[in-house]
Amino acid sequence: MHNLLWYLAAYLIGGIPFGYLIAKYFAGINIKEHGSGNIGATNVLRVLKEIDPARAKKLAAVTLFLDAFKGAFVVLLAKFFGVCDATLWAIAVIAVIGHCFSPYLKFEGGKGVATTAGVLLVLIPKAVLVGLVVWFIMAKTIRISSLSSLTGILVGMASSYILYPDLSIRSHAPLWIIAFVVIYKHKENIYRILTGQEKRVV
Ligand code: G3P
Repeated sequence: MHNLLWYLAAYLIGGIPFGYLIAKYFAGINIKEHGSGNIGATNVLRVLKEIDPARAKKLAAVTLFLDAFKGAFVVLLAKFFGVCDATLWAIAVIAVIGHCFSPYLKFEGGKGVATTAGVLLVLIPKAVLVGLVVWFIMAKTIRISSLSSLTGILVGMASSYILYPDLSIRSHAPLWIIAFVVIYKHKENIYRILTGQEKRVV
């Protein structure tokens, strides 16, 4: 398959807005008009806790899983078909961009955390594990979802330099493009964190 088709597939699959669809289907709401307006698992949990407390956690977990899964799936599929490393990294970047600027939501979208975890799980799994541990500790102690996600992603990515010393220089740029996109999508969260206004969610 031509690389361009892989990139298109990555964008179209990465762009599937699972949180939006789940909130629409199970709670009949447009998640973009509630809570933080994000389509990610945190906002699904935050908003559905008010509307459907019995199912909120489950639906948020499903959102988290599917957002990560779609990223892992497209990179894994390309890997299975023997796509070279540099193209796999490009596919990973495009899947995250697809999630953050979804073609199905007029190029709006999520903040890319779960999809980043998914794509990187295939490419640098040990670094994802480090990121998850950091995220978990932060989520349990500080209890600010955005700060936990950003710290987990950045520490996880930084750890790849130690855990994968042979990682080609061509993989570093995609890694930091992903970081940049995720940070950019969190710009309002970052402002609220810095001004002490970010709410503790979960
Ligand atoms: O992964 C999204 C999270 O980092 C922030 O979500 O809804 O609190 O803006 P939210």
